[in-house]
Parts: sequence; C-alpha cells; structure tokens
Amino acid sequence: MSESTDPRPRRTLLVTSALPYANGPIHIGHLVEYIQADIWVRYLRMRGHRCIHVCADDGHGTPIMLKAEQEGMSPEDLIDRIGEEHRADFRDFAISFDNYHTTHSAENRELCELIYTRLRDAGHIDTRRVLQAFDRAKGMFLPDRYVKGTCPNCGAPDQYGDNCEVCGATYSPSDLSDAVSVISGEPPDMRESEHYFVRLADFETILRQWIRGERNVETSASPRSTPPVQKEIANKLDEWFEKGLEDWDISRDAPYFGFEIPGIEDKKYFYVWLDAPIGYMASFRHLCNRDPELDFDAFWKPDSKVELCHFVGKDIAYFHTLFWPAMLHGAGFRMPTDVFVHGFLTVNGQKMSKRTGTFIKARTFLDHADPEYLRYYFACKLASGIEDMDLNFDDFRQRVNADLVGKVVNIASRCAGFIHRRFDGKLAARLEGTKELFDEVAPTSKRIADLYEAREFAKAMREISAFADRVNRHIDDRKPWNLIKEEATWPEVHEVCTGGLNLFRAIMIWLSPVLPEMAERAGEFLRSNPLGWDDAATALLDRKIAPFEPLLTRLEAKTLEAMVASSVEAAPESSGDQDGSASPDSSGIADRIGIEEFMKVDLRVAKVIEAEAVEGSDKLIKLQVDVGEEDPRTIFAGIRAAYEPRSLIGRHVVIVANLAPRTMRFGVSQAMMLSAGSDDSAQQVFVLEVDEGARPGMRVR
Ligand code: 2FM
Ligand code: ZN
Repeated sequence: MSESTDPRPRRTLLVTSALPYANGPIHIGHLVEYIQADIWVRYLRMRGHRCIHVCADDGHGTPIMLKAEQEGMSPEDLIDRIGEEHRADFRDFAISFDNYHTTHSAENRELCELIYTRLRDAGHIDTRRVLQAFDRAKGMFLPDRYVKGTCPNCGAPDQYGDNCEVCGATYSPSDLSDAVSVISGEPPDMRESEHYFVRLADFETILRQWIRGERNVETSASPRSTPPVQKEIANKLDEWFEKGLEDWDISRDAPYFGFEIPGIEDKKYFYVWLDAPIGYMASFRHLCNRDPELDFDAFWKPDSKVELCHFVGKDIAYFHTLFWPAMLHGAGFRMPTDVFVHGFLTVNGQKMSKRTGTFIKARTFLDHADPEYLRYYFACKLASGIEDMDLNFDDFRQRVNADLVGKVVNIASRCAGFIHRRFDGKLAARLEGTKELFDEVAPTSKRIADLYEAREFAKAMREISAFADRVNRHIDDRKPWNLIKEEATWPEVHEVCTGGLNLFRAIMIWLSPVLPEMAERAGEFLRSNPLGWDDAATALLDRKIAPFEPLLTRLEAKTLEAMVASSVEAAPESSGDQDGSASPDSSGIADRIGIEEFMKVDLRVAKVIEAEAVEGSDKLIKLQVDVGEEDPRTIFAGIRAAYEPRSLIGRHVVIVANLAPRTMRFGVSQAMMLSAGSDDSAQQVFVLEVDEGARPGMRVR
C-alpha cells in the first residue's frame, strides 16, 4: 500500500464501540453501531492514521447473574460462552477490533478500584441510606425493573417499578400498588441500605466546558474546537444541566455479579454502569500488555494528544456524556474527544420484532446471506446525526442488486471478458480515451474522503454510485462490443476496457472501508492488493490481471424470506385448522390461576380490517386486524360456521396480543381473537366486541 497523501498530520485515535451485554446474542440492531465504527476506523487506517478500535463484553449486573442461575451455570461460564459467540459474530461481520476483552477482567477490576479510590480521596463520593424493594424469598434487593405492579398514576396493571409504559409517569417501586417481585412473584418488602454516590454536580463546570469543545482545544493533536457531541445531544445536555445534576448511585448490595467496592466493611459491589465504560480502558490496557509499543499513559493522561472517540446509541448518551467524562476527569484522566451518537434501527418501518421475524440475530443473518450486503446497506443509510434508520427489505435488495451487482461489478465483468479473450489477460499501456474520466478520480476521492471523515456514509455511497453510473455510460458510449468486430479498432477496445477496469479499481478502493472482503477479491482479480487509498488515482497499465470470478451475487427475495422465517420465534405447530381458542373444560371452570399469571396475557383492542374465508377449510376465517402502532396482524379464527366473513369488517374485537405465533396449514396466526361459545355447537360462537370509542391497541383489563 502506498503512503497516504492525506495532507493533515498523522493522527492517533482510540475508538470504542459500546460493550454488548454478555447475556444475549448480537442482532442487526447492534450491528448498526459496530459497522458504523468499523467503516470509520477502516477509512482512517487507509489514510495512514493510527486508529485502534477496542471493545469488550459487558459482563456484570443482575440480569446476567439471574440468567446464569436460570441456566444452572456460573455467571463466569455464561459470560465466557456468550463472549465466544459475540467474538465469532464480530469476526464474521468483518468488524476489525484490535482488541476484544471482557469487563470481568483483572485489568478492569484494577482500573475500577483506581478510579473509585481517586474519586473518593478527592471527596467526590458520598454515602446515604436508600429505601429499596427487597425480595425476601430470594434474599436480594430488587432493581426497579424487577418489580411490577399497578401504576399509581393511571391504574395500568403490570408496569415496571420505575415508569409506566401506558401513561409515561415515573415513580419508585414503593409507589406501585399490588407490587410483586418479578423473580419470586411475592410482594416485596421495602428495606434500607447504605449506598455510594458520585457527586456529579461537582463536575458541572468542567462538563459544560467540555461540551463546548474547550477541552479539545487543549488536548487535540490538531487543535480543534469542535464540540465532542452532536447538536441534538448538546441540547439534551443543556436540559439535564437546567434540571440540575443529581448524585449518581454507583453501589449495589450482595448478591450481585460484579466487583466488590474496596475499603468498606459491608459487602457491596460497583454498579455495572460504573465498570462498563472503564471496560474501554481495560480493554486497551489488555492490548498494551501484549504490545509493548503502546503506552497506556500517553493515551489517558489529561493532556493526551490521542483522540478518544466513542460510538454509542442514543439510549446511553447520558452515561457517556455526563458520568463517564466526569469520572475520567475526577480520577485524573483525559476526557473523550468525541461521543458519536447514533439512532436506532427499525425494520420495514417497525420496531424489530421477534413475533414477525424481524429481530434478526447476527448469526441468523450470516447463515443466510453475505454480511457485506448489510454493511453496504447500513452505509447507504448512515449519516452523522442521531436519527433512527430503517432497513426496508425491498430497498435493501434494490441497493445491493442495482448498485453493487448491477453497476459496480458490472463494470468489471463487461471489461474483463475482452481483456482475457482478445488481449491475453493483459492491460493496455495507455488510457487514452478514458483519461478525461480518470482525471476525475482524484477530486472525487477527496470528496468521498471528506464524507467518510465526517461519518456521512450515505452521501459517500451516493457519490460512489453516481461515479459508477458515469463509468457505465462511458463504456456504453464507446461500445467495445462493436469495436471488437474490426481488427483495426481492437486497440481501442483494449484501451476502453483497461480504463474501465482502472475506474472499477478506484470504486473498489472507495468502497473498501465498507466492503473489505469484496475489495480484497477485487484486488486479487486485478493483482493489485493491498488497495491503498491513493492508489485510486494511479493507473494500472501494461500488466496481467487474473481471470474474472463473480465478485458478488444478487440478493434474492427468498433469501430474506428464509432469514425472516428462521427469526420468527419458535411456535408450536398447530394440530388442526382452528384458531386455538382455549376450550373450556366441560366439567366446569378451569384451575385457578393467580393475578400475576393472568397479567401475563396481553389483551388488546383490534379492529378487523379484512376478513375472508380460507379456501380449503370449512371452519376458518382469515382476518387482518389493526392493533394500533404496528403492522396489521393475521389471525386464523375457527368461526366460519357462525359468521359471514365480511360482517366482521370494521368491528372492534379483543385479541391476545402476546400469544406466540402459530404455524397453521394455511399460514401463520399472529394472535388469537376472543369469542364466547358453546362446546356443542359450532354455530354458537360470539365474538367479543368492545363499545364504540375504543381504539386499536388499547389494553383490555
Ligand atoms: O447498553 C448496553 O448495551 C451496555 N452494555 C453498553 C455499555 S457501553 C459502555 F459504557 F461500556
Ligand atoms: Zn400509568
């Protein structure tokens, strides 16, 4: 690879992506961030900068402790197993971490203790007694999310102990009526214990300066006063400052899976959110242990010239823009240069959902399709802001097939044939007629570089795609397939195709941060690996290339269908063509259940928008129902004997919304519609309806 001509001085950057919890798989929602960070890092490395990307598994906390218990294993074994899966997923999506560690490590323990004791010794830690829900049966304090009950504000049942999903009220678990522990199902006690707090307000002045970019001027290698956060986040921070910074509770009582707080009598642990970001440092320390060239202190000292850049989702911006910089500063370390916040992923315009199969795990994607399809699509959608982005399946196929296969690969395939058939696989010695277009490569490279640098990947992809259009038009205009007919014009064919392949090479260089594997294959074909950024503007002439192999195949609709089908949460096969309504036991009322069990059933109002008889079944009606803010659902209901399908359209019925989807002979039933009926007569069925005024999606209780 030739040296980069990036005119700016060589930069050193330490980049991090958020640490995934070690209790579940990586899914495509997570991948937005890892792919975004990886593209940026690969681009910077191509420009000759020293860019180190570290990550780790986030291994502590109550959910991990409880999951391990459920699975009958130690938390250490659980996080080891999940850690292996995460590493394999990242490797196969070509995420080029320099180090992937775990927060449950010796390096992290040591750094947590160091940061905590420095904060404590500087007077930034307070203690006070806190009243908290306690599960007697389980012998543990309950995080707010582990208490459920009736909302004190609107009366909605089954709400978490910290806020109500129905009315949005926030409160503490002791405010809930009928509160129960999610773990034991028993009403919790309220008990007091001593907690440790970081006095966040001590850092208000420095945080305000940091957010204005004043710290970056002091520390950055290339002095810049750009604020470390995007505008939207800066506004949010202003709101948080206006409200006043509250002390941050960093301790948890035993039992807990984490690091014990040193130097205190009681057994208490650091809250997972204290040790998670320190995990960035610990992962880097772990890398330094292997690489003596790396100087840990040079990266973390207060006046470090290294850029420290964190990629995070908007849900955890608070931790990274308040707690984390405050902790770093309070403990005598540098503050972050940038916190790049991104939005969430929706699929086909909806929240990812296990029920509809759009909650796609990284591994499921890999089992069905080339990971670079997703890398490319995300690049086509990513910008530098915090907006959510949508993965639309039709658009996804269109971009991959039309842009990558139809435009980019097409350039290589149409030119390579002539070079091999007529010119013994050797490129011409001059560009001639393509020269004018080739002269555009250098300025286009510059524009694309600036867009990558600014994380405006969607714009970079548009620029590349527009250039590929120009190359294809140029080949269309020169018509080598006609020129080849006369021997006299063979030199022209040679030169057009050599030009086409050189322009293809430039395009693949520009795409290589996004499509490293395809770029590698392209480089092999042109016998010019590794592809360096500045190679784009230097032509390959008078040399042999390898035979052309297809570089990427089309993404088929059936591939995505199969991916979705294997992502639908496993549902039992239905034995018959009925809607699965629970038939009451003829001997009378069914066994009693507790209120908690009943509360697990999510009943909702749904409006019937379509209804038709199912061909091949004399019992079933197929319904489409509107359940509020999601795609309409399909239900197969065994009520044909009692209802003419069309008479159901427009009615507001009641459905069980959280019943696992069931695969029936005629399709997948995605909910159950409630009806009253007699066991003796199929005609005696009465669909449950709600009074006028009820809206689709309303909870029924
Ligand atoms: O929200 C999450 O998934 C956390 N595990 C992210 C931690 S990022 C960092 F602070 F460690
Ligand atoms: Zn409420």
